[in-house]
Amino acid sequence: MPIVAQLVQQYLDRIRAEHADVTDGRLADYIPELSRVDPEGFALSVSSSDGFVYESGDATVEFTIQSISKPFTYALALDRIGQCAVDARIGVEPSGEAFNVISVDEVTNMPKNPMINAGAIAAVSLVPGRTADEKFDLIQEFYSGFAGRRLEIDHQVYASEKATGSRNRAIAYMLDSFGVLDGDPDDVLDVYFRQCSFKVTSTDLARMAATLARGGINPMTGRRVTDGAVVRRTLSVMVTCGMYDAAGDWVSAVGMPAKSGVGGGIVAVLPGQLGIGVYSPLLDAKGNSVRGVRVCRSLSEQLGLHFLTVARDSRATLRAVYEPVDRIRVYEAHGDLLFCGAEQVARTVDRERDRFDVAILDVSRVDDIDDAARALLAGMSATLRAQGKDGYLVDPDAVIGTGLTAFGSVDDALAAAGR
Ligand code: DON
Repeated sequence: MPIVAQLVQQYLDRIRAEHADVTDGRLADYIPELSRVDPEGFALSVSSSDGFVYESGDATVEFTIQSISKPFTYALALDRIGQCAVDARIGVEPSGEAFNVISVDEVTNMPKNPMINAGAIAAVSLVPGRTADEKFDLIQEFYSGFAGRRLEIDHQVYASEKATGSRNRAIAYMLDSFGVLDGDPDDVLDVYFRQCSFKVTSTDLARMAATLARGGINPMTGRRVTDGAVVRRTLSVMVTCGMYDAAGDWVSAVGMPAKSGVGGGIVAVLPGQLGIGVYSPLLDAKGNSVRGVRVCRSLSEQLGLHFLTVARDSRATLRAVYEPVDRIRVYEAHGDLLFCGAEQVARTVDRERDRFDVAILDVSRVDDIDDAARALLAGMSATLRAQGKDGYLVDPDAVIGTGLTAFGSVDDALAAAGR
């Protein structure tokens, strides 16, 4: 593993460890099969926007996607029939109600948003297909495009939910009575139960999130799964409605579009920057993973990931890399250097370490830097030294102070390096 990856890995392991002892919450038992999972399972995966994945804990354990399916089917409906047709059937207003509430908007008679069950069932009905199988095949292909691998369903969870899903049946028939549902309610429900039963790992969720973060391009496969307008609309409803009646608290404290599922997963997206997948199946009263929410909160606080912090800064990072003299490489950063930008700078330096004896990090065009980025670059300079390499900093305005020897210009740094 590259050295900078080890540093980030340590951050993630530490953040996960901070919450490992929390045993609050309960397994979802209204779907009987979900109460059979190991309550201890705990995983955190983070994908950078260029597809590099960090994993901590049980990142290979599969669990069912449940409500995290909802934004992806909503995106598929938008992708295939367009926003106008979708808006004619599903609203975008936060409901402030539980995910399984049997209600529609009093004025429009439509589900209030696509993140509660009513809106999600309506979204399934909008996916093109003459039969339930045709709809399901499209959904499977679409989700798999986001994950970068073919996702399969857990047949036991599907059968368990289908056998006990009276509440969702009530919702589907209510929608049918209001003329909101396209097709036979039982067929639509069958597809909904199947989509909730897809098996994913925390890493799948991180990759799906990173595909949203990249505006619809999967950074691992390079394939465009959907377009930027679909992603923008999908992320918008994730911000306002993704965590149900905890949405306000989530946006204030964590500040990332997100979606939870009663299987214990949470997916969170930092647009343009990274994707997060967390798994821990003990849930709070709102159906959100207790440790999942806590981990996301810590990640946001400790790595400065709140989207209202990052929005103005997302243009950060490497502007140029060049070699003015043999075996001396200059890495020129610009913009605002926050965690994600610093991670990419440090990982680039690390990847190229066999190509230089001296690395010069030129931050003379960096406007601002935060503590998470500073700590990462300090760690990078220590590891360069440990490998017998020199690291110099061009920092005329002293924005950093990483422990690297600082100079006012690249020429001064080259002179110090004796070239
Ligand atoms: O429809 C249901 O009740 C489940 N298949 C999904 C609910 C869910 O994940 C709610 N999210 N936290």
